[in-house]
Amino acid sequence: RMKRQAISAEPTAIDPSQLTDVTLKSYDKNKESSELIQRALMDNDFMKHLEHGQILTIMDCMHPTSLTKGCCVIQEGDDGSTVYVLEEGMVEVTKQGKKLCTIGPAKVFGELAILYNCTRTATVTALTDIKLWAIDRQGFQTIMMRTGLIKHSQYMDFLRSVPSFQSLPEDILSKLADVLEETHYSDCDYIIRQGATGDTFFIISEGQVKVSQQDSPGDEQVIVKTLTKGDWFGEQALKGEDVRTASVTAVGDVTCLVIDRELFKQLIGGLDDVNNKQYDSDEVKANVQAEADFFSRVS
Ligand code: CMP
Repeated sequence: RMKRQAISAEPTAIDPSQLTDVTLKSYDKNKESSELIQRALMDNDFMKHLEHGQILTIMDCMHPTSLTKGCCVIQEGDDGSTVYVLEEGMVEVTKQGKKLCTIGPAKVFGELAILYNCTRTATVTALTDIKLWAIDRQGFQTIMMRTGLIKHSQYMDFLRSVPSFQSLPEDILSKLADVLEETHYSDCDYIIRQGATGDTFFIISEGQVKVSQQDSPGDEQVIVKTLTKGDWFGEQALKGEDVRTASVTAVGDVTCLVIDRELFKQLIGGLDDVNNKQYDSDEVKANVQAEADFFSRVS
C-alpha cells in the first residue's frame, strides 16, 4: 500500500490556494487515444498508484502535439514544464550523451521533473516523427493536489461524524485526515484475523463487516457483531495490544480508513484521552461508551 501523501506531487511545493483558481481545460480525444493514455499512466511506476479519477482527469486534460524526427523534446538540465504520453513513434532517452533507452507508444515521459520539482533528468529526442499528448505542470499539479484537497475535506467530514472523534480539535482531525489510508475489501475478505498481530485501527467509511471469534482453533466462528459505516474496529491495537482478539471480514464491498498505532499515538496520545474528553451531549457520550463497551467485550 502506498501512503496517500506520497502520491501527491510534492504538496509542500505547491500553494493550494493558487490551485483552486486554475481552470482545467479538457481536450476531446477518441476512444483509442483515451485508452492509450490511461494505459500509459497506469503503466508508469510513479503514477500507477494514483486514484482512477486522477488518471481520468489527467487523460482528459492532455492536449495533442507532434514533432518531427530529430527534434529534442526534453533537454537534460532544463526546468521542466510538461508531462508527455507518446502515442506514435519512438523517442530516445540519453543522459550526459549516453543512451539510456528508447521509448515507444503508450509510455509516459517527462514526469520526473514535474513530480519531484527537479530539473530534467535526461534528454529525450524524437527518433521518428512523433505524436504526443501533453499536460503542463500547473494542470498536472492541480489534478494531483485538488483531488488530495477534496479527499482531505471528505475525510474531515467523515471523522467528525464518528462520535468518538467529535470532540477532537480541528487541527488534530486535520492531521488524522492527512495520515489516513483508504483500503478496499471485497466480500468475505479478512480485514483482521483473530490471533494475528496488528497495529492498525480501522474506521468503516463504506459497507459492512462481520466481527467473529473462535474460542480455540477448530472451533466454530461465532459472529459477535456486525459493524457499518462510521463504526470502528481494531482499536485494541491502538492501546498497545498486538494480538487481534477477533476476526473481521467484509460483507460485500467495504472501504476502510486505516490509521496505525504510532501515528495515532503521536496525534492523540491513546484512545483513553479521547474517552476522557468532555462531550457536547449525552447522546455522543452514550455512543462513545457503547463503543468502548463493545471493544472491552471483544477483547
Ligand atoms: P524528466 O526528468 O522530467 O525528463 C526526462 C525524462 O526521461 C524523465 O523525466 C523520464 O521520463 C525519462 N527518463 C529519465 N531516466 C530514464 C531512464 N533511466 N529510463 C527511462 N526513462 C528515463
